[in-house]
Amino acid sequence: MKVTLFTDDVKEAPVQLIAVGAFADEPDRGSAFASLNQWLDGALAEASREENFEAKPGQQVVFNLPAGHSVRRVMAFGLGDKSSFGPDAARRMAAEAVKTGQKVGATELAVQGLPDGEQSPEAVVALVQALAEGALLGSYKYTEYLSDKGRRSTVEEVKLAFVADDVHGVKGADLRGAVKRAEAVTEGVRFARDLVNMPPNELIPAELADRAKRMAKRHDLTFKVLHARDLERQGMNLHLGVGKGSTNEPKLIHLTYTPSSKSSQRVVALVGKGLTFDAGGLSLKTSEGMMTMKIDMGGAAAVLGAMEAIAISKPDCIVHGVIGAAENMPDGNAIRPGDVITGKKGVSVEILNTDAEGRLVLADALAYAQDLKPTEIIDLATLTGACMVALGPHTAGAFVRDEALFARLEQAWQASGEKFWRMPLERQLREMLESDIADIKNIGERWGGAITAALFLSEFVDSDVAWAHLDVAGPVFAGKAKGEIPKGGTGFAVRTLVELIHQPLELQE
Ligand code: BES
Ligand code: ZN
Ligand code: ZN
Repeated sequence: MKVTLFTDDVKEAPVQLIAVGAFADEPDRGSAFASLNQWLDGALAEASREENFEAKPGQQVVFNLPAGHSVRRVMAFGLGDKSSFGPDAARRMAAEAVKTGQKVGATELAVQGLPDGEQSPEAVVALVQALAEGALLGSYKYTEYLSDKGRRSTVEEVKLAFVADDVHGVKGADLRGAVKRAEAVTEGVRFARDLVNMPPNELIPAELADRAKRMAKRHDLTFKVLHARDLERQGMNLHLGVGKGSTNEPKLIHLTYTPSSKSSQRVVALVGKGLTFDAGGLSLKTSEGMMTMKIDMGGAAAVLGAMEAIAISKPDCIVHGVIGAAENMPDGNAIRPGDVITGKKGVSVEILNTDAEGRLVLADALAYAQDLKPTEIIDLATLTGACMVALGPHTAGAFVRDEALFARLEQAWQASGEKFWRMPLERQLREMLESDIADIKNIGERWGGAITAALFLSEFVDSDVAWAHLDVAGPVFAGKAKGEIPKGGTGFAVRTLVELIHQPLELQE
């Protein structure tokens, strides 16, 4: 599917469907709606009345045009009050427009994107990127295992339509750049979604490594994989230990993006938890608890998606993607509650619950990442159910040790429209991790489970490196579709990571 810009009158666009935003608190629902309504002799307002359309956020009404028009339908999309309009509403509208386009079999559609009024050039560019992202993400569907793949997406082209005045003062190159960025980012998001949606019998650690390798080849990234024997040589016994109960060997995956001309000193390491399935090990989960545990590689998927988007959009800093991949299963070789294992960093860990395995794999992956001498490390992990209890299923927990990195991350997640909330690395809880016989144990007590997990990780990251831990247990998977987010794997965090890595230099101080 392709996204193009259209700056003539939207009524002239050669499309079958026009989507137009409508504001709840504007006279005539805003000028874009009013202009289409006038063109249709008031029929759009009449249809809206009949359907009780109040332009509440997400509300929709589809109006079929009488014969004689080349445009077949107009869809009005509720944007709520005008003051709440921004990239998030725009992204959602474009996604819903594409879904409606698919339902009615349209091949080309136009989205009337911007409200009139004063928008700064930066705001216009951000809106165009969000509209393009929404259009490109709205058409996503995971069909790999369906024998009847259903109707293929009919929509071939989405035109983002603006009245010329709307984009006054913004260079055409900047608008096209925004669409290009959206194309790169959504390619990565779609890749991450596919990986999360894959069934765990197919996506074993070796397959994850293979898919990462193929992606790296496509985009000229450096690829390296460490097999069990390499992990042994590196002393990565915590990672190896987690994989011991499975016949599917653990792997460490390492991708590198190097810019062709490097103007920045920045070296970013993205580290992902890649548990292709988490049965809990001998501390076995319940049947219900393991039903969705194929998503336990959601952090790894975000890292791989971000690496793909980065390879396409080419920022000026070095980026490493490191993934600890394993399968957590119970069998005669599995690690036991009570085992003590020392990993790459030389810290001995008493394992009292084999279901707290993500932190063990990450401890070694973080140690590996630090050998790459990064200026900042961001890890992403579906680490704790406790984080979902704290923040609900749509919001990720952000544990950030470095204030400058926090400021940049916050800017990035606000710009991307993904939901994160800062969580405290509360030192007082550190005593919960004290072991009687080893340096540390792998579980805390009942309260503060997301925090003790983050504190555990912090022991494996030297204090002189800027580090953030993102617990994405909830948002990598959605129970129901909404706007640009499909049911199933969401590709969460790819947009934020790409935004963070492209941040202008002045924000990096
Ligand atoms: N992969 C799970 C966390 C998880 C739970 C992710 C639900 C997504 C949805 C993790 O490995 C785990 O099992 N954590 C335990 C930790 C506990 C044993 C200290 C948990 O959250 O219960
Ligand atoms: Zn677990
Ligand atoms: Zn897990």
